[in-house]
Amino acid sequence: MGSMCTCQSEKNSGVFDVAKLKPVLESISDPKRNLITILQKAQDIYGYLPIEVLQHISDETRIEASKIYGVATFYTQFRLKPVGKNLIMLCQGTACHVNGSALIENAIQDELGIFDGETTSDGIFTFNNVACLGCCSLAPVMMINEKTYANLTPKKTKEILKNIHESEIGASDVNNASEAPKNESVEGIA
Ligand code: FES
Repeated sequence: MGSMCTCQSEKNSGVFDVAKLKPVLESISDPKRNLITILQKAQDIYGYLPIEVLQHISDETRIEASKIYGVATFYTQFRLKPVGKNLIMLCQGTACHVNGSALIENAIQDELGIFDGETTSDGIFTFNNVACLGCCSLAPVMMINEKTYANLTPKKTKEILKNIHESEIGASDVNNASEAPKNESVEGIA
């Protein structure tokens, strides 16, 4: 059986309460055939797939750790790192590329100081480049959580990020720990 190195995070043992996985693992009779379902539920619980959790799944299911890691890294739906409160998905599809997504990426990097796949140190933003978001006529486009931002310019992008940052800071100032409001609207359509 393969093994994963968990030495890096042993000092954080207890952060990931693997007991939360018990009902999931008990409810699935054939873990080998349902590994993706197990990983999806684990990600729902922890927000991502910490290495300790993958190792625990391996220990409990007797599926080789290397196989579990392989599945977790193969599918883009799975995250091996924690994501920030606001997940920025910048489209790099053809229409968005032609309409200046590279400039938008530069604006995001400039404003937040992070690159593709990274999270700000305050945990407020994670930035990911993604493939077509399916609204090419609004290019260039990004989504932040459930909200779509269309017809972006570098200036507009920075303003959007500033506004979100300010609202997050304000929310923490009033000790409001609730989730950011979900907004499924599209902003920026001319
Ligand atoms: S190419 Fe960007 S939404 Fe389709």
